[in-house]
Amino acid sequence: MQAWRERTERALDARLPPATDAPTRLHEAIRYSVLGGGKRIRPALVFATALTLGLTEADVEAVACAIEVVHVYSLVHDDLPSMDDDDLRRGRPTCHKAFDEATALLVGDALQPLAFQWLARDPGLRATPAVRLRLIELLAVASGTYGMAGGQAIDLQAQGRRLELAQVDDMHARKTGALISASVLMPAECAARPDDASHRVLRRFAAAIGLAFQIQDDLLDVLGDVGTLGKATGADQERGKPTYPALIGVAASQARMTRLHEEALDELSHFGENAAPLRQLAGWLLSRSF
Ligand code: IPE
Ligand code: IPE
Ligand code: MG
Ligand code: MG
Ligand code: MG
Repeated sequence: MQAWRERTERALDARLPPATDAPTRLHEAIRYSVLGGGKRIRPALVFATALTLGLTEADVEAVACAIEVVHVYSLVHDDLPSMDDDDLRRGRPTCHKAFDEATALLVGDALQPLAFQWLARDPGLRATPAVRLRLIELLAVASGTYGMAGGQAIDLQAQGRRLELAQVDDMHARKTGALISASVLMPAECAARPDDASHRVLRRFAAAIGLAFQIQDDLLDVLGDVGTLGKATGADQERGKPTYPALIGVAASQARMTRLHEEALDELSHFGENAAPLRQLAGWLLSRSF
């Protein structure tokens, strides 16, 4: 994880516009938001999937960067006063606090196309035009109304209301699961296209850990510690968010998360020993405290 985190940091640093380029304030805000924090789970999934399928980390570095900047854009906007109104992110003031709201909007506006620019052009990405196009499509769908943005819309509409568990699952699958799934399916697209059975296995694995990941995020809002998490706790309850612990309680949420992890690990048996990196990463995700 540490090595992958460092690799991601270097790769993003090298690709982002320098803060000395005009408009300097926007470039500073972009670098502030992207660099120097975060678990880099999505890049780690990209790398672990690549290794499982016989690729190298270098082959998919641009994919890891593209997904991570879309994720960062989603966090910058998620923290805005019109959304979750949070002041702390990755242990530092949120983008709109450190800069201003208009700049935070523009950081998101700029990070999103940057991701697609890298997928289209990054020289490190050894992919045919057809594969690049497919990667662009996968990331577009994962970030759009059937993915992250749609999930965020459901989250905001549901504030203060009670959802059925199936509706929470759907919201989580979109707002968080979609980008997590893209982190597995995009590197798979870079490998010699996996057969249908392998593809189904990867899809089910990613869906299971994606949902487990957001349940853990919901749980950490209840059980976690601000210093370790680097973001506020108790905020979901305060805002009446339809979270897993709010709906079924802490213990049942933990049990569901553990079951999802078991399901995810079962899927990986399809790849045998090759899936060791993904198996280890799934274990890390289950035990994370931040
Ligand atoms: C937080 O994501 C928001 C969710 C989608 C749950 P992460 O927990 O991956 O946040 P960082 O990137 O490590 O800060
Ligand atoms: C955020 O979910 C999901 C996205 C940013 C798409 P949360 O609102 O629960 O994430 P945190 O807890 O603020 O990181
Ligand atoms: Mg939110
Ligand atoms: Mg939030
Ligand atoms: Mg949360």
